[in-house]
Amino acid sequence: MSARESRVILARAGTAAYDTSLGCYRRHGGYAALAKALALAPEEICAEVKASGLRGRGGAGFPTGVKWSFLDRKSAKPVWLVVNADESEPGTFKDREIIHRDPHQIIEGALIAARATGAARVFIYIRGEFPHGAKILEAAAAEARAAGLCGEGCGAAGGVPVEIVVHRGGGCYVCGEETGLLESLEGKRGCPRLKPPFFPAVNGLYGCPTIVNNAETLAQVRRVLEVGGAAFAKTGVTGDTGTRIWGVSGHVQRPGLREIEAGAATVGDLLYDMCGGPRAGRRFKALIPGGSSTKVLRFGERFTGKTPAGDAFDWGVEDIPLDAVSLGLCGTSAGTGGMIVMDDSTNLAAALANLCAFYAHESCGQCVPCREGTQWLARLTARIADGDIRDGDAALLRSAAEKITAGGANAAVANAADAVAGGAVEPAPPPLADQISGRTICALGDAAAWPVQSFMAKFGDEILAPRARPAGTGGAAHGSHGKRAVSPNAGGRRST
Ligand SMILES: Cc1cc2nc3c(=O)[nH]c(=O)nc-3n(C[C@H](O)[C@H](O)[C@H](O)COP(=O)(O)O)c2cc1C
Ligand code: SF4
Repeated sequence: MSARESRVILARAGTAAYDTSLGCYRRHGGYAALAKALALAPEEICAEVKASGLRGRGGAGFPTGVKWSFLDRKSAKPVWLVVNADESEPGTFKDREIIHRDPHQIIEGALIAARATGAARVFIYIRGEFPHGAKILEAAAAEARAAGLCGEGCGAAGGVPVEIVVHRGGGCYVCGEETGLLESLEGKRGCPRLKPPFFPAVNGLYGCPTIVNNAETLAQVRRVLEVGGAAFAKTGVTGDTGTRIWGVSGHVQRPGLREIEAGAATVGDLLYDMCGGPRAGRRFKALIPGGSSTKVLRFGERFTGKTPAGDAFDWGVEDIPLDAVSLGLCGTSAGTGGMIVMDDSTNLAAALANLCAFYAHESCGQCVPCREGTQWLARLTARIADGDIRDGDAALLRSAAEKITAGGANAAVANAADAVAGGAVEPAPPPLADQISGRTICALGDAAAWPVQSFMAKFGDEILAPRARPAGTGGAAHGSHGKRAVSPNAGGRRST
């Protein structure tokens, strides 16, 4: 382990003689935080979590204590707690590690959250492709129940009187979105719900108040109770407290998970010192910092401005501190911490086509902009990756991306695509984006548009540069995720 790492959540996972049993967890101090929580009133636990400044680790980064405070406690309906262990964001593999190696942390965090929120039941929703993880969680929940730490009949002094249900999903990106997840948990297709009226804290699972938290978030809640909210808040930076787990994949010498106190190291520290730098003879080219939905960064670009504290900064990608606030200042986000590294061997047109194929495959199809737009983006980028580049492609990509996501918010980034696309600034498309902006039900639409906008803003010249078409065009360059590959003429529709 690097000296720059501060392992808290991953402190025990994978160390010699550490296993997933309750006995082992207890020998390492497990369930002491629950004991503390049981000595507190529910509102005191909520106050600790609020004071900690903990932000959710599922991608959106919403403050956990604030989310709990939205819970409708007056409805007289049961409250449900849902642990989101779907881990569906491409590039993300931290929850799986905790589940496989230290599952009781999640169970303990969930029981603390259940006590704080008054939940009547805990559901752990785990993606279908994690059968081993589901078995581990089931075994851990059964052990906790047998030990009187939970279960409807357990004594309130020693445990939380809730049952834990482990539910396997079908394996679908959009079922990680909290309302899609709730639909799936109810046995329906995982189509996200409109918010409002379906804000989970008020109108969630089976129409009851529901808290959905990411699996790692709940492991962090356990830590909050262990050290206290005020002490937790002193770690990390203002606006992003505690540790963050970065899952580095791609073109580094030593990929893997690294847990670092927020803001205590930079992107360069992580990629060079902890992950061994680029492969021999290669240079870093692009970085997706927090899961495939977060905006790409280009090595060589600079970011200037002032931090919230008023300090001027002038950073290259390597200089960016690893915290949500700093990454936000650079126009991207910490997301899930799933960091995808691409070196100069990467065909970025193919990489973008690969991402677009994924989002087109995963759109649930409820919203026209997302259903149609993701297909358009997939077909366009697949054609471009195949070397068939046409006049107007920059504007077409921009227009298609803007039609899915909020045009206003992203216009600045998207407009930059024109500036780099072959030098020729193309006429702006009509403001169709305004007609559909913010009209998709869930954030998958935005997630699909952002990579296109950011890749085009940062690498548009390379993506649209004339090049030889790969031999046997029709799919050589772009990936398929082992799922349905999107061909340039998918579905027999007219070529874009
Ligand atoms: C398309 C999509 C997929 C998502 N997938 C996941 C996921 O796999 N796991 C997760 O925890 N959150 C996922 N989220 C975020 C959840 O909707 C939700 O914000 C999160 O579970 C809340 O937990 P947190 O507050 O603890 O971060 C996804 C969101 C979207 C839009
Ligand atoms: S934005 Fe896309 S994935 Fe989300 S509800 Fe609409 S169609 Fe489905």
